[in-house]
Amino acid sequence: MKSHIADSSLAPAGKKKIEWAAREMPVLTHLEERFKKQQPFKGIRLAACLHVTTETARLAQVLKAGGASVAVCASNPLSTKDEVAASLVKHDNIEVHAVHDASRTEYYKHLKAALDTKPHITLDDGADLLTLLHGDYKKQLGSMLGSTEETTTGVIRLRALEASGNLALPVIAVNDALTKHLFDNRYGTGQSTLDGIIRATNVLIAGKQVVVAGYGWCGKGVAMRAHGMGAHVAVLEIDPVRALEAVMDGFEVTTMARIAPRADIIVTVTGNRDVVDSRVFSRLKNGCILANSGHFDVEIDVAALRKRAKSRTEVRPGVFAYTLSKKQTVYVLSEGRLVNLAAAEGHPSAVMDMSFAGQALAVHHLVTHGEHMEAGVYRLPEKLDKEIAQYKLSAMGMSHDRLTPKQKKYLASWNEGT
Ligand code: NAI
Repeated sequence: MKSHIADSSLAPAGKKKIEWAAREMPVLTHLEERFKKQQPFKGIRLAACLHVTTETARLAQVLKAGGASVAVCASNPLSTKDEVAASLVKHDNIEVHAVHDASRTEYYKHLKAALDTKPHITLDDGADLLTLLHGDYKKQLGSMLGSTEETTTGVIRLRALEASGNLALPVIAVNDALTKHLFDNRYGTGQSTLDGIIRATNVLIAGKQVVVAGYGWCGKGVAMRAHGMGAHVAVLEIDPVRALEAVMDGFEVTTMARIAPRADIIVTVTGNRDVVDSRVFSRLKNGCILANSGHFDVEIDVAALRKRAKSRTEVRPGVFAYTLSKKQTVYVLSEGRLVNLAAAEGHPSAVMDMSFAGQALAVHHLVTHGEHMEAGVYRLPEKLDKEIAQYKLSAMGMSHDRLTPKQKKYLASWNEGT
């Protein structure tokens, strides 16, 4: 096993952090116990390209407990927690290729090392492994059962690949499970994005003009939490339905050009590119803070800002001041990369519990059914989605009502009307 990590002496610190995360992840622990007994992944090789955090460590442990051999690489060099990587290698005997702040070349080297283990199933967060598998690693496709995908941006890439007729594997879009995006994207991104901005800058949110670009599941969460902390929140959207939803949720909906001169903090969460770019730089309010929580670092055109700026200085860790003129300096957090992972710790474990239970059950589904599934993008079966919600509720000590046989019959009938 040839791992590549930053510093193995960090392992004890990583172990403590993983144990802390485990307290908040009862659904994964429940699956771990089940898999330990049943060994459904015996002889299965998995490669997971996910943010190397404590929660990912729990997922890797659970899959290993079920008999799989697991190789982990990072889905973003800035989100890697070196102590977690060290602990996985030392205490769990899991192969890891991830170093915090790795260069682009090193990042791809790590992805390739994970694929060199010849996985039967890959787990992606942004479709990077799957993209390599459809390029230089095409030969390996024949021996694979399938893949899973964690995030919206990855699913968009997969659907584009499917539409072009070139997708060669069944892929389960874990992101599209209700127990994933309704909670992870909304409550996870909502809380952790604000957490990242606050840890990086220590600014007071109350009274600020916060602008949220994109009112999808993530944007709704960010807007809700910023509003809850006392900010004036404006929303930018390109979809009229979502824009209307934001209006009826009580937010101002406007355009970037109009709001830029008033914006104290702009957060992009669109999954799109060039949301803050040279069209708007000169209009930005002096002191404006720019942060991105969308998957790729293309939402804020940092390269163009750098070209345009007279100077660029790191004023706090991860906070870069770009001086555009004597009267205008703007601040970019974490170089425009996912602020919640780069400046904070990503989503709280309790929410990742459900997302990663979805991943574990998706892997199980591929192991049991993958051979007979056609290439294509699949939802996590609804039964599994409900199972995750049910277990999470029980673990939280909540119970809920059930249908009576009469109610079940009524809902299934078409002829019982007025
Ligand atoms: P979504 O598809 O539900 O929402 C995106 C919204 O942005 C859509 O309503 C779309 O109309 C809007 N949009 C697109 N281009 C725009 C533009 N130029 N200006 C304004 N609005 C625009 O997607 P979701 O689930 O909210 O995810 C958004 C991004 O966040 C994706 O890249 C996703 O991968 C990422 N993500 C990040 C997480 C994190 O931990 N930071 C967690 C989950 C997802």
